Amino acid sequence: MKTIDDLPFLNFLTPEFEADPAKVINALRPISKIVRTPIGVLVIERQAVESLLADPRLESSLLNFVQMQGVLEGPIFEALSRSLLAVDGEDHSRLRKLVSRAFTPRSVERLRPSMRSLSEKLVADFAAKGRCEFMTAFADQYPIQMICELLGVPSEDHDKFARWSNAITWVLSFEIAARMDEIVAGFEGLAAYIDALIEERRAEPRDDLVSALILAEDGGDRLDGDELRSLIASLLFAGYDTTRNQLGISMFLFCENPEQWERLRAEPALAPRAVEECLRFLGTVAIAPRSAAQDLEIDGVHVPRGMLVSLSTASANHDPAAYEHPERFDVAVSRETPLTFGGGPHYCLGANLARAEMQEALPVLARRMPDLRLDGEVSWRPRTGIFGPNVLPLRFTPGTA
Ligand code: HEM
Repeated sequence: MKTIDDLPFLNFLTPEFEADPAKVINALRPISKIVRTPIGVLVIERQAVESLLADPRLESSLLNFVQMQGVLEGPIFEALSRSLLAVDGEDHSRLRKLVSRAFTPRSVERLRPSMRSLSEKLVADFAAKGRCEFMTAFADQYPIQMICELLGVPSEDHDKFARWSNAITWVLSFEIAARMDEIVAGFEGLAAYIDALIEERRAEPRDDLVSALILAEDGGDRLDGDELRSLIASLLFAGYDTTRNQLGISMFLFCENPEQWERLRAEPALAPRAVEECLRFLGTVAIAPRSAAQDLEIDGVHVPRGMLVSLSTASANHDPAAYEHPERFDVAVSRETPLTFGGGPHYCLGANLARAEMQEALPVLARRMPDLRLDGEVSWRPRTGIFGPNVLPLRFTPGTA
């Protein structure tokens, strides 16, 4: 059996990888399904990624990830250790079951009219100018308002939520130590707010997700106060920054492929396929991080217990064995569902919501922003963590209102 040392090495901390990860990975693809990295191994083949996402021999590595950066205890560590992404096995299924009672596909579907009207309202504020900085003008506002509406957070508090969430998002990066004060302040603000919101809804339930989570029950089992706080925080956090960045990425992809934007504008019914293609072509989340719960073998390679095993959904989404001409961005072609929302027990809880938000927003944007193109330099977030543009200046011809 081969060992880790026999694997090709991929250093994701190099400028070459930062500039074009696909190029680096494509060069390794014919050699191996799994490669060695500075922090463990990375699985790059689609079939292997898909089956390992559901493999109980791998467990969440969220806590290893923060421990590696020196965070071993304290409120952030405690909160993360209770989050859905950090728990496995029966504890995880119990939480998932209770959340799924409250966060149903129906609760997402009924938000579609709000998604459409909010998209129209946001775009109306800048459409006549023929230019915008897309992240501030649209992406910063749309997903946060939708997740807050779903949870039942009053509109005057949405900005506060966005600020806390922006601070907490650094927990998923390699900058935890440098950003610790920011993360703690964001976390404390959010936790106090959520506790107050839970108390209000306990006293007076409403038709919103916070009330539904409080009331969710499975055979007499319910979520306790800590679990509720942690779940609401992770819904907000996971539901804002991801969709916001995926929207920014999508607009960038359409600038690079103007004929595809025109195609979507002419045929808004292509929106669901267009969303899948954006998710596949460049996802805001590139890997599902895991660690080996026991010694195991992956493609003839011995992986020792405790080793970090990152599953590259980004690479899987470009595997030529699963996608014909993976390098082509085509909103009209029918393809295998991308793995950008992960898979197995931790499959993204908000996939329905994220898809619906993008399916409603993109046709509105395409109608109001024809001849879309870049209007200056795009600055990007680092590729480790939630990826997307920091700044995305766009130009277009004002379209029909
Ligand atoms: C484009 C947008 C989104 C992307 C690309 C995305 C991606 C992902 C991925 C890859 C995972 C699994 C991670 C893993 O297995 O390690 C995940 C989990 C999760 N996502 Fe999303 N997500 C998005 C939007 C959302 C939204 C809108 C929400 C909530 C409202 C949400 C809530 C969650 C939660 C709670 C989990 C943890 C599930 C669990 O561990 O059981 N996500 N997401």
